[in-house]
Amino acid sequence: MAHDGETQEVAAYQPAAGLAVNVSDAPQNPGMPPHRQRMTDKDPKAEKRAARVVYGLFYLSVAGSLWAIAAYMLFPIEDQQMTSIRHNNMYIGLGIALALLSIGVAAIHWSKALMADHEYVEERHATRGTEETREATIESFRIANEESGFGRRKMIRNSLFVALGASILPGLTLFRGLAPHSSEEDPLAGDPVALLNTTMWEKGTRLTRDPGGTPIKASEVTLGSAFHVIPEGLSELSHHDGMLNEKAKAMVLMVRLLPEQLHERESRKDWSYDGIVAYSKVCTHVGCPVALYEQQTHHLLCPCHQSQFDVTDEAKVIFGPASRPLPQLPITVDDEGYLVARSDFEEPVGPSFWERH
Ligand code: FES
Repeated sequence: MAHDGETQEVAAYQPAAGLAVNVSDAPQNPGMPPHRQRMTDKDPKAEKRAARVVYGLFYLSVAGSLWAIAAYMLFPIEDQQMTSIRHNNMYIGLGIALALLSIGVAAIHWSKALMADHEYVEERHATRGTEETREATIESFRIANEESGFGRRKMIRNSLFVALGASILPGLTLFRGLAPHSSEEDPLAGDPVALLNTTMWEKGTRLTRDPGGTPIKASEVTLGSAFHVIPEGLSELSHHDGMLNEKAKAMVLMVRLLPEQLHERESRKDWSYDGIVAYSKVCTHVGCPVALYEQQTHHLLCPCHQSQFDVTDEAKVIFGPASRPLPQLPITVDDEGYLVARSDFEEPVGPSFWERH
């Protein structure tokens, strides 16, 4: 029945037999507005002027790209100081903005002032292409090439290629900033393995709370609790002294379990203290802080890609993309009962790229 009803409803839209549709009621196609010639169509001098503006802008873009590269060298980031970071970002950004903006403005001006501006109506047709369609496409490319002057206007075309090529250079130059560089103050900076192999931890360094920097007594670490730990003295460093770099390497997560829950190999038996163990917080996958401790399962979880490490079993990887355990910090207590490091980590912290060669 419902089907019949639909049929009747559709039928209601059909003009009744014998009735003529009044064509004058249908909306009329307003057509295209009258074509107005541009100055560049009428005046060869204006055309030349527009062409000069276009390739001038493309070369301005080249200047912007070169400036971005120069700014990278002229305004280096020094000792992580905010002023130098601001200058570096601002001047490089200005260069890149000028380069990209100039290409955009030149392209718009080229199309508006010099390319053919007659209206083109593309009729709807079946999507499937036929031989004629392919030929028509090739023909339209030929016409576009002819009308835009892409092949003919060599100055514009070549300057566009140069500008596009140059606009990639600042990006390539910035990649250089990702490579390690050594300096007089920080000779280890050029050697990533040495850099990650040495942290602020050394024999007798107290374990302190992050971020307060107060030392921790073994008696304060209750069963099941977890402490975010930094080496004593770190919180007194300033940004200028490389505090962030040091912290990024030395941060540790410390937990207490029952001593019998720990599966420690013989050579590491004295790395823990009465069930208290400390592991590097820098994930061995790509270096995120492993900051989530599941008290029930004794698993440490990295929030970035879900690697999980078993605290009872020397922080071995039990799930996820990390390929090696978290380095363990050997600890003990000093005469006053404060937790201290026995030594630095015995292997580089963080991602294990250094193992690959
Ligand atoms: S950084 Fe930790 S799992 Fe990827």
